[in-house]
Amino acid sequence: MAGPDDATNAHRQAVAALLRWQLAAGVDETIGDAPVSRFRDSGPASASAGAAMPQQAAETVASAAPQALPRTLVAPPPALASAHHIAAACDLAAALAAFDGCPLHTPATRLVFGDGNPRAHVVLIGEAPGAEEDRLGKPFVGPSGQLLDRMLASIGLARGAVFISNTVFWRPPGNRPPTPAETAACQPFVERLIEIIAPRLLIALGGPAATIILGQPDSIGRLRGRWFQWKSARSLQPIDATALYHPAYLLRSPGQKRIAWRDLIAIKRRMATTGSL
Ligand code: URA
Repeated sequence: MAGPDDATNAHRQAVAALLRWQLAAGVDETIGDAPVSRFRDSGPASASAGAAMPQQAAETVASAAPQALPRTLVAPPPALASAHHIAAACDLAAALAAFDGCPLHTPATRLVFGDGNPRAHVVLIGEAPGAEEDRLGKPFVGPSGQLLDRMLASIGLARGAVFISNTVFWRPPGNRPPTPAETAACQPFVERLIEIIAPRLLIALGGPAATIILGQPDSIGRLRGRWFQWKSARSLQPIDATALYHPAYLLRSPGQKRIAWRDLIAIKRRMATTGSL
């Protein structure tokens, strides 16, 4: 006569057979205790079921909905676009931190990558970090940086609203000018930085930066106050570019400040016409 043990054994064998069948069908993981219907109506009636799901599962379902994809591709939300810029800029900073192809990298204390907003409409490029910049790892934090902050403030730009970097990312020993080999080693990174930020206005600070950024052999006295178009092989559209006297030069030659302030007013006007304000 069959007893309760026989019934239990038969049940166990049935469960084991079912598990073997599932394994043979490719099931190799348990992801929940309750069965989920994948055929459930995806219309409004199921919305409350979606709302009851854990947060992450609900978001996955929503972003996978066919109508959600084109919206994401056509117009990324501002926070996401900002995240892309910041991630790209971080990648570039990390690449530079690992780059030892510029001879300045060895004597310098630290990398001076850049400072400000990676989504800025205005990018400024100086020549090379000095002692204070080398100590703090940020561009334009010494006396010329303080004057630069005042110059920017005079046209309504806070430091956090622009992005500032240099033609080389490490301090040349004794503050000597960078050599052509040093600037050449850094130039692809400067170019990539401008491509990533894709500002509306690009401003070179001083003669050496103007020569490199604007690709013009003229002196700063001839380049300042003029407008050029900056473009790289990969940039999507040309960027308005100009040059300003370097703040360190203005500290040494305060008589030239009048000209620099005139150039700043022209930059402010250009910002208004290019929607960079
Ligand atoms: N001068 C520059 O050109 N860059 C700096 O970062 C500081 C001073």
